[in-house]
Amino acid sequence: MSTGLGHEIVSVINKLQDVFSTIGSSGSQIDLPQICVLGSQSSGKSSVLENIVGRDFLPRGTGIVTRRPLVLQLIHRPAPASQPNGTPVKMNGPDKFANEHEWGEFLHLPGQKFYDFSKIREEIVRDTEAKTGRNAGISPQPINLRIFSPNVLTLTLVDLPGLTKVPVGDQPKDIEKQIKDMLVKYISRPSCIILAVTAANTDLANSDGLKLAREVDPEGTRTIGVLTKVDLMDQGTDVVDILAGRVIPLRLGYVPVVNRGQRDIDTSKSISAALEAERQFFENHPSYKGKAPYCGTPFLARKLNMILMQHIRATLPDIKARISQQLAKFNAELASLGGPMGDSSGNVVLSVITEFTNEFRTVIDGNTNDLSLNEL
Ligand code: GDP
Ligand code: NA
Ligand code: MG
Repeated sequence: MSTGLGHEIVSVINKLQDVFSTIGSSGSQIDLPQICVLGSQSSGKSSVLENIVGRDFLPRGTGIVTRRPLVLQLIHRPAPASQPNGTPVKMNGPDKFANEHEWGEFLHLPGQKFYDFSKIREEIVRDTEAKTGRNAGISPQPINLRIFSPNVLTLTLVDLPGLTKVPVGDQPKDIEKQIKDMLVKYISRPSCIILAVTAANTDLANSDGLKLAREVDPEGTRTIGVLTKVDLMDQGTDVVDILAGRVIPLRLGYVPVVNRGQRDIDTSKSISAALEAERQFFENHPSYKGKAPYCGTPFLARKLNMILMQHIRATLPDIKARISQQLAKFNAELASLGGPMGDSSGNVVLSVITEFTNEFRTVIDGNTNDLSLNEL
């Protein structure tokens, strides 16, 4: 399983998080921002999220499919150093995790490990229906799913129901307000990165997702515009003006993507095949040919990388200061007990972190050099 976020950032951040969990000092964790999708119903939110994670397990489709928030926690868990003798790794296949050290677990089913993505999707659907009925009801009660893997970044992604206006099925009259209130709870957090999803074959000026994103993030410092369904636009039309910031400018810009269509879902088209089709689409389209590197899911993942890196760069000095403080306190305690003042194990930890920070900085700088990519 891969986050689609790039091996470098995954290994760097995981290393950092491992060091901090070894120290075990509270308050020195790196809290990565949550990533939430926001937009109208069926604009492609679940599809975008799934492409970022790189695995098929979210219910998607026409109509209201996502009816409760899904809080997806990716949890990095190093594989055991030595494999038990003769244990065959037989989890392979498009619907399975790559190996036995990767699995999903629901908060409402403690201890039950899911190694099969289609079973995860079935459970999301089952529990959604159990709590909201079958007839389009929605609920703010989240489904909590954790994915444990050696190959992911410890990061939280949230799939949210879409904004709607007209009640259908068992939905209450004030469904619009209910959904909006539910979404605002998630996207108001300053640590939330908002993927504001708008289908490219609809009018950007009417984008409910963008409007709501603007209410909670007026400066646009944590909102990325995502334009889906670029493949469904009328011939002769394109999103070039939007990308150039000539329609509704967004500080962090827009990324056009092509997700799997309903036919692809019905025929179980794989994510890798979908990403390849997306690449070809942008490389061969007359409007996007020259801009292909700034289009598609891989570029969206790079943008997210950059934002995560900047976040960590901004929080590192503070984390170092807190650790130094704790060390000073620790040394003072040792001294008062008549213990050794010299090279305590704490100092070793601090030097590891300092060394690490230096190493890390080169990776950060490498990534933030891409900042100019925002200007398209
Ligand atoms: P959500 O309701 O916003 O979560 O949207 P979904 O991800 O469930 O997608 C809604 C429908 O739109 C599904 O049938 C998807 O296959 C389809 N869809 C999503 N993105 C695209 C896209 O980029 N191109 C095409 N052709 N269909 C898409
Ligand atoms: Na949908
Ligand atoms: Mg959805």
